[in-house]
Amino acid sequence: MTSWNATLRTATADDVDAILQFYKDNPNKNVLGRSDAVRNACENGRQFLVEVEGAIVGVSGAFPSGAKSLVEVGGTRVADDWQGFGLQERLFWARFAAIVLTEDRDVQITTAVDPDNATSKHSILKQGFAKWDEPAPELLVECDPGPGRAGCEKKAALPAGAKCCSDFFLISRDALRAAIRAFLDDTKESTTVTRRRKSGDVLTLHVTCKTVCDPERREDLEAFCEGR
Ligand SMILES: CC(C)(COP(=O)(O)OP(=O)(O)OC[C@H]1O[C@@H](n2cnc3c(N)ncnc32)[C@H](O)[C@@H]1OP(=O)(O)O)[C@@H](O)C(=O)NCCC(=O)NCCS
Repeated sequence: MTSWNATLRTATADDVDAILQFYKDNPNKNVLGRSDAVRNACENGRQFLVEVEGAIVGVSGAFPSGAKSLVEVGGTRVADDWQGFGLQERLFWARFAAIVLTEDRDVQITTAVDPDNATSKHSILKQGFAKWDEPAPELLVECDPGPGRAGCEKKAALPAGAKCCSDFFLISRDALRAAIRAFLDDTKESTTVTRRRKSGDVLTLHVTCKTVCDPERREDLEAFCEGR
């Protein structure tokens, strides 16, 4: 058994270059790591990262969708050696809390997943996302060619009528409340939590996000969970 210390924190504008480098060093066909989206999320408190001894081991963001009151969560990459500790789940919770505290209460949260990405699909279904068969058109803008954009190269290979190579999912209000409740409960006694993976390895995770470290913000999240 091996144990490590890690920190889950909100990224800032100073982290943009390191996050983009992390995507480059950990390439994966399911994650784009777009610089404009990362920069925007860092500047708006919607990019999160996990560090071990100062090195990034996981990143994730929340991005404008182009549609009003619809936020897209994505860009999650947990480095291979650090998978299985539940970091993706905590990155979801951190993003949900940041979105709920800064958007209208009727905000909807969506995510897109490649149908073949079994791990990611498992993890979003566990959070309570459900398939969205008719996603908002704003989410599909990049698929087709248009002014200033080439369109998605995968579109031509899709079956007739298919709009996108990814499946879209939405999280229900109840599932969102349950996820935020889980984040609050996980950090209730202490914002340092212990994560174990199946091999027995232990990760001591220090959660420093204001959403759960600041009592007033915790209270606002409690109110959201209770529908107040
Ligand atoms: C998807 C990813 C972010 C998950 O990171 P992680 O921190 O290891 O995720 P977690 O530990 O929170 O959860 C992983 C879950 O997937 C499960 N899992 C792992 N491999 C799986 C597989 N092949 N099929 C189904 N479930 C799988 C684990 O058992 C665990 O489930 P549990 O929470 O019920 O025990 C990581 O695998 C990754 O970076 N993948 C490549 C990039 C990617 O696909 N990003 C998402 C784009 S939509």
